[in-house]
Amino acid sequence: MPLGYRLANVYRLVDRLFFESEKNSPLCALAQQAMDVSSLRRGATVLDLACGTGTVALWIAAQRPDVHVFGLDLAGEMVEQARAEARRQGLGNTTFLCRSIFDVDAAAFRPPDGAPDAPAAGLDMVVCSYGFSAMPQHARIFAASLDLLAAGGRYVIMDVHYARAGRRARLAAATIDRWIWGSDQLKASWPVMADALDGFEKRDQPFRLYGVIPLVFFTARGRRSQP
Ligand SMILES: C[S@@+](CC[C@H](N)C(=O)[O-])C[C@H]1O[C@@H](n2cnc3c(N)ncnc32)[C@H](O)[C@@H]1O
Repeated sequence: MPLGYRLANVYRLVDRLFFESEKNSPLCALAQQAMDVSSLRRGATVLDLACGTGTVALWIAAQRPDVHVFGLDLAGEMVEQARAEARRQGLGNTTFLCRSIFDVDAAAFRPPDGAPDAPAAGLDMVVCSYGFSAMPQHARIFAASLDLLAAGGRYVIMDVHYARAGRRARLAAATIDRWIWGSDQLKASWPVMADALDGFEKRDQPFRLYGVIPLVFFTARGRRSQP
């Protein structure tokens, strides 16, 4: 397991450095716009993929008490923190699963008040906030999550986006992301995503992480919305 996931405290430290200002927070104005939670239908299900300590999942759950938000992460300590915070805020519309995306199927994402043997309809939205750049096997993880999305569901990605050229960008990718997260971001999966998703849109953010690394949003509808 890469260094960055081993200890929730290491993660929290990196998290604080990453998201130190409101502008590059996972909940910045652009992120809120991309997620557009007000447009979710009543009773919708949302997955915060690689939720970490649950920042995004908890925010969505607080905005929309009438939707159910799942957070999924394989790091136990982080999931525990997310659960504790949900309890503290009294957010009963959340479920945090300590699992790998490779070990779940659609049945794991039924809202608790739904009929237990009804076929799982698929998620209305998958959000992945600064996850793909911090996960090994990101192309496979993306494919597994896409299978869980309902027809016409929304996919929102907020992430760092390394330039492939340039000494400083290559150095940052080789050290921070390969070494701490094991993600090898120079072999980024963005082109795979653009091919797989319907209505794929990229929006660059107007600032750079550590003053060097561009940040980006991708929003899309699921592939299954195609006629
Ligand atoms: C940078 S953190 C995510 C940050 C979080 N989304 C946020 O906005 O604060 C990346 C996370 O990916 C999780 N992860 C890596 N591989 C995974 C997998 N196969 N399934 C689920 N989670 C995974 C790690 O445990 C880690 O918490």
